[in-house]
Amino acid sequence: MITVTVCVGSSCHIKGAREMIDCFNDFLTKEHLQDKVELKGAFCMDRCGEGINWKINDEIMTSSSAEDGAKMFQKRVLGELNRERRGQAGKEPSQG
Ligand code: FES
Repeated sequence: MITVTVCVGSSCHIKGAREMIDCFNDFLTKEHLQDKVELKGAFCMDRCGEGINWKINDEIMTSSSAEDGAKMFQKRVLGELNRERRGQAGKEPSQG
């Protein structure tokens, strides 16, 4: 499971965080990945000057626009899922 956390603080909201979350959701629905990726909102990540801030697991990402974020999200999420799949090949499913 990948956790994606999007800042919904006022600065990121103004830059399009809400719109970006909608793009993320559309992509997950289209690719049937809703059970593989958890989307969460978070309050200000203390990087308001940067852009729209969000995280894939613990890695902080910054996007200049919702479209930019959506592109990055698609690429990174698919990359993470491939990596998880490879890592799990031949292993017992872990607990928790
Ligand atoms: S509002 Fe998003 S980092 Fe501050």
